[in-house]
Amino acid sequence: MRLPNENAIEIDNLVKKFGSLTAVNDVSLKIKKGEIFGLLGPNGAGKSTTINMLLGLLAPTSGAIRVNGINMLKEPEKAKGQIGIVTQETVVEPELTAEDNLMIFGRLYQIPKDELQKDIDFALKLSDLEGFRKAYAGTFSGGMKRRLETAKALMHAPQILLLDEPTTGLDIQNRSKIWDLLRKINKEENVTILMTTQYLEEADQLCSRIAIIDHGKLIALGTPSELRQRIGMSTILEVTADNDALPKIERIFRKVGLEPKVLTNKVLAPGGSKPVEKVEKLLKLLSASKIDVHNVSMHEPTIDDVFLKLTGSEVRDTAGSFTGGRGMMMGRGR
Ligand SMILES: Nc1ncnc2c1ncn2[C@@H]1O[C@H](COP(=O)(O)OP(=O)(O)O)[C@@H](O)[C@H]1O
Ligand SMILES: [Mg+2]
Repeated sequence: MRLPNENAIEIDNLVKKFGSLTAVNDVSLKIKKGEIFGLLGPNGAGKSTTINMLLGLLAPTSGAIRVNGINMLKEPEKAKGQIGIVTQETVVEPELTAEDNLMIFGRLYQIPKDELQKDIDFALKLSDLEGFRKAYAGTFSGGMKRRLETAKALMHAPQILLLDEPTTGLDIQNRSKIWDLLRKINKEENVTILMTTQYLEEADQLCSRIAIIDHGKLIALGTPSELRQRIGMSTILEVTADNDALPKIERIFRKVGLEPKVLTNKVLAPGGSKPVEKVEKLLKLLSASKIDVHNVSMHEPTIDDVFLKLTGSEVRDTAGSFTGGRGMMMGRGR
């Protein structure tokens, strides 16, 4: 017997095919009530497709979804009523004030008039937009729009909030304001949160558990610290250069006592103990060898490194070269 109130969301063997492409490939997950759960993956991994099936916007090819125990395929309206949603695209009405954006949404949900004003006040306070209630949403920064949207998604008091890449494209200040808001919603309003992200740092700081997804497949699941332990906390040493120089660089890594991996345009290895000394030796040998090196770096393990460890391949980048602020982002936002 399943306990009635244990899981907010249950996904069993979920599959979504678009023609010959399998966008979501046999994903099973249980999201517990009270969690902030992160679905982490690069562009095209299948995050939005999964979220859209959870929202009843896309029909699964096969598999089952239960929201608070309600079968999404059998009782979609009832299941959808449990969920608030913040989609990947910003959907605030630019020509309406913050207050009116919330008002319209509240009416849509047929919240009684006397309650509605209270709910709006509460939502504005929660999202730290009280001072902007009469301002047009079109004048808001990206972060303010996101906060307004998040507040809007809570107007019908759902127990579960789904957010699809809520901070992609935001700067770090706005991102951390969203994190504060989500923490507050989770702790004070007892809302279970399922969010997608391309940022390792975000999943790490915000989420109680993380599922890493790539090519539609779940490749890892655990608490942030469990996932970090799986790759070890060792510093990564990395040298970028032209392809033909990589074998030479690999030999130099070995001379320094490192265990290198050679990727498309770089050689890297866990630094182990005394990474700084190893970098010094590396630099000396590299400079003596006259190899044309583009970049040498030493950094904490990133999601690329997690990926490399788990899959043996690099994070696929669908939008040009990988740049994401020293590897904190999994490819670029669309
Ligand atoms: N409506 C659709 N029709 C065909 N292919 C789609 C459709 N939606 C998504 N895809 C494809 O499915 C894969 C997963 O996409 P998506 O779920 O949007 O990834 P993510 O949100 O992780 O970036 C991608 O290869 C994408 O091109
Ligand atoms: Mg997406």
